Parts: sequence; structure tokens; C-alpha cells
Amino acid sequence: MSDRPAEPPLWEQVAERNAALPRGERLQKVLAATGYGSRRVCEELISAGRVTVNGEVAVLGRRVDAANDRVEVDGAPIGVRPDLVYYLLNKPVGVVTTSRDTHGRPTVVDIVPREPRVFSVGRLDVDTEGLLLLTNDGDLANRIAHPSHGIDKEYLVEVRGGRVSPGAIRRLRDGVELEDGITAPARVSQPDPAVLRITIHEGRNRQVRRMCEAVGHPVTRLVRTRIGPLTDRSLQPGSWRELTIDEWRALTAAVAGAADPPSHPGDAPTTSANPTATIERRD
Ligand code: URA
Repeated sequence: MSDRPAEPPLWEQVAERNAALPRGERLQKVLAATGYGSRRVCEELISAGRVTVNGEVAVLGRRVDAANDRVEVDGAPIGVRPDLVYYLLNKPVGVVTTSRDTHGRPTVVDIVPREPRVFSVGRLDVDTEGLLLLTNDGDLANRIAHPSHGIDKEYLVEVRGGRVSPGAIRRLRDGVELEDGITAPARVSQPDPAVLRITIHEGRNRQVRRMCEAVGHPVTRLVRTRIGPLTDRSLQPGSWRELTIDEWRALTAAVAGAADPPSHPGDAPTTSANPTATIERRD
């Protein structure tokens, strides 16, 4: 018999090794999500020793917690790209979510600074109020719009038809048959008898209005109160502000791992500001 101490069983060794691994997303994925290029390009940046995590040069395979770890490329914190802007707007009723309106109505881009040119991430109907993200970061916008993410959007909804019954709420939760198919499960609560808080992650045209109409309660007022991690109860209708770095990080973390960005990070995606629209979904 060997007098070497018995090794712990393999499964214990594996569990121990896994526990010692930093958790989170792979660094190259996070870099790609923040616009540094394809994952391959980002792997090259890491291999070249140009990326640090919390002050230490990172090695390939490193995982990071995008919301908490300090990641820098060539000494500059990721995300701090002076050419990119991110505005959170509280869209008032009567303002359209396009860059130019053929009927001469005010548009969301009239409210924010003219330069650099920004586009909206998703849309709100002209008669919907609430939070809308505007940016010139095409890569982040594409990731937010990517169906695999299903970033949550929360709405406060005032409806006609009196008290919404438990049956109607159950239908909204489970999925409502609309002309373009059944809706995905939604989170629904009822702060008041004729007021609903509805959270969806799809982005179909006039979806919340059509869902409520389908259960016999046409919408009289619709306000978007949250986009993924972004909320702001004190932002007045018609006002906007830049995202904070923490909000930007939270948003980036929420969409890390989407499909690789287009080949030129920072390029505008195809939106209504850009006539071959594909990403500006109705949500
Ligand atoms: N759902 C709608 O019906 N309208 C909006 O503007 C947003 C979501």
C-alpha cells in the first residue's frame, strides 16, 4: 500500500476547481458586447496583454462580472467611448418615435441634442408616454433588439371597462391570441382595479394595447416605466438625461452574450433613422 495521503475523489476535486474559478461572462464576450469588435478581435486584444481586470493583465478564458469588475483596454475603462452617447428620454404623448415625421409632428430626436445624431432603441406609439433609450451606439442597440435577449419592458396601463377580472388577468399572463399569433407569457399585476402593470419582452406593434383590447379593456393611458434595468420616476415628460455609468454597465451586462456585433462597432444599426429599418422594433 502507498503511504501517500489518499486523493479526494475526482468529483470533489472538480467541484473545488470550479469554485475557485471567477464567475461571470467570458471577457472576450463582454468586450465584444461593448463594441471592441468580434470575439476573435477581442481575444487578440486579451492575448496581446492590452486588457486588464481590476488592474491585473487578463488572460484568455478569464471570466468577469460585467457589472462589478473594472475592465480596461489600453488603460481606458471599457464603455468610456467619447463618441458614443446614451440618452434616457421620458417621451410625452404627441411626440413621434422617428427622426422625421411626414406630418410635421415633433419627434423624439427634436428633444435631445442634435449632434451626435442618435436613433431610438425600439419605439413607443405617438400616444404612449414613458422611457425611451436614444443612442448612436449601433452595436448596443442591436444587442438590445436581439430576440434572444428579450429585455423586459414594463408598462403602467390604464384601461376602460371597469375592474379587470382575474380571468382577464390570467389570459394576459398566459398569452393572448392576436392576429399575428399568441403573445408570450407576461407578468401582470393590478395596482388598481382599472390599472395594470404589464411586463413583456416581445416587441410587437402596439402589443400592449392589442393585448388589453383582446381581453375587453381598451387602453386609455399607456406609460413605459422600465426598460431592462433602466427606470427613473423623477424624469419629467419631455425631459432626458444621459445614462449613468452604472446604468450603462447594467444594460451592457443584460445583453452580454448576444450575437457578435456588426463588423464596425459603433456603426448605426438599421433603424428608422436609417431607412433600411430592421432593428427598431415596435415595443
Ligand atoms: N405597446 C403598445 O401597445 N404601445 C407602445 O407604445 C408600446 C408597447
